[in-house]
Amino acid sequence: MSAAVFVSGGGTNLQAFIDEVQAGRLALDLAVVVSNNPNAGALDRARKAGVPDECVCSTDYAERERFDDALASTVDRYRPDLLILAGFMRILTAAFVKRYEGRILNIHPSLLPRFPGLNTHQRAIDAGDRVHGSTVHFVTEQLDAGPSIMQGRVPVLEGDTARSLAQRVLKIEHRIYPAAAALFASGRLACRDGAAWLDGDRLEQPLLYGKE
Ligand code: GRF
Repeated sequence: MSAAVFVSGGGTNLQAFIDEVQAGRLALDLAVVVSNNPNAGALDRARKAGVPDECVCSTDYAERERFDDALASTVDRYRPDLLILAGFMRILTAAFVKRYEGRILNIHPSLLPRFPGLNTHQRAIDAGDRVHGSTVHFVTEQLDAGPSIMQGRVPVLEGDTARSLAQRVLKIEHRIYPAAAALFASGRLACRDGAAWLDGDRLEQPLLYGKE
């Protein structure tokens, strides 16, 4: 199975995929890395790993629809089976999501449905949460609201800042994202009827990493 990875920034999640694939622990062909930002550090990681990279600059497109059209034609040249959003800071149009229905994964740095949107770590601290984490989910037209697949939890410690908490969450992200993608790559995981399905059973709750 082949995948396109979408990035905008540093790309530590992309690196986790590269490392797992190179170590032979994840049977996925990383066909292309696509960035909307020409300065994304993730592009260097792709080049170092010998994964083809493409940049579709969001600043070149005034309209969201045109950007997504360009994105789709770039991606389609590589014919990926799976689309992996890894720190891709763009909201995709409904048309784009529909085109790849049931084949787009995202990772969001909170225990969804808690804290959709931005600044999740600060919001978890401000809310006094003792547990925080990250969620891998299928992408649907509703932002950060598609069917959840897997979550990883971390403690919120006394004196945590958004930065220190983000570091802790990133570490768990690097485990849960390749693990969730592996389930999809092996054909065990699917998205249909607005739900995630594992081994033919509807997932009522996301899997908890370490306990799945
Ligand atoms: C991660 O925290 C992810 O949850 C969010 O963006 C961040 C990307 O980090 N969607 P990186 O670029 O993979 O280091």
